[in-house]
Amino acid sequence: MSGNAISKELGISRAAVWKQICNLRREGYRINARPNCGYRLEEEPDRLNKDLLEERGIMYYREVDSTNLVVRRLAEEGCPSYTTVIAEEQLQGRGRLGRDWFSPACSGLWFSVVLRPEKITLANAAPVTLVTAATLANNLKNKQGLAVKIKWPNDLLINAKKFGGILSEVKGEPDRIEYLIIGVGLNVNQQADDFPADLKKQATSLLLESGRAFDRTSLFFSLWENLCRAYDLFMEEGFTPFRESLLSCQAFLGREVKVTWSGGTLVGLAVDLDRDGSLLVKDKKGAVQRIYYGEIE
Ligand code: BTN
Repeated sequence: MSGNAISKELGISRAAVWKQICNLRREGYRINARPNCGYRLEEEPDRLNKDLLEERGIMYYREVDSTNLVVRRLAEEGCPSYTTVIAEEQLQGRGRLGRDWFSPACSGLWFSVVLRPEKITLANAAPVTLVTAATLANNLKNKQGLAVKIKWPNDLLINAKKFGGILSEVKGEPDRIEYLIIGVGLNVNQQADDFPADLKKQATSLLLESGRAFDRTSLFFSLWENLCRAYDLFMEEGFTPFRESLLSCQAFLGREVKVTWSGGTLVGLAVDLDRDGSLLVKDKKGAVQRIYYGEIE
């Protein structure tokens, strides 16, 4: 369509048309512009379906600092359990251990859920990350046929490359949790070139590993419905019902690992996950050490 025709139809100047074309391109629309000919829409961006999401009570944002920060503000204002925020893009996506989480527009799933468990104490809250990892991994295995592995406690891997992570945060006192926040980040439709140079080696996406693009809205609903059911069970019965399914997708059990945590480093054999989700590592002297939090290599 020519720029002239667009400007006439919309009653705006040619300059205003050009400005909006530039805006649309920034939003991911691929628009071809030919002098003396006009504009052609070549490709629309991959967008989450805002209407469908909002119909089911999910709060959709085009752009946020971090969905964990948005739900934290909502939780402070008293939002109910299961309030969920999803964003097309995060400008300050956060990962574990103070790292950034690369969250570009229109290609991944970046969402956070608030829970208000009544029966769980602060000491028993940490496995919510493991419950989330096991639920996501099993969903992607069973429904999408993807060979997903978990690197304890929160990394989701395919072919030893990371495509997803979980960031859980909690506010409460030892005997009462005010709220739990679980943030999930999944690389879905990114191409290899979409990752910055420092991530290219270790990061991947579902598209890269499966060779197909995903409808992110239906993928989100499938995962979110499973997560809500899993959280119902976790808030009633704790971690125990999830231990078996978590064990079935561990990437490292029976292998030598190096574990790093704020208190130190340990090299040993990863032997098991205990009933509370802690990692059991047999050290060089044969003693089994229990690790509650850390990062393994
Ligand atoms: C990690 O592996 O380090 C955890 C990554 C968690 C990323 C998700 S994306 C949605 C939510 N909002 C954030 O800022 N972080 C989490």
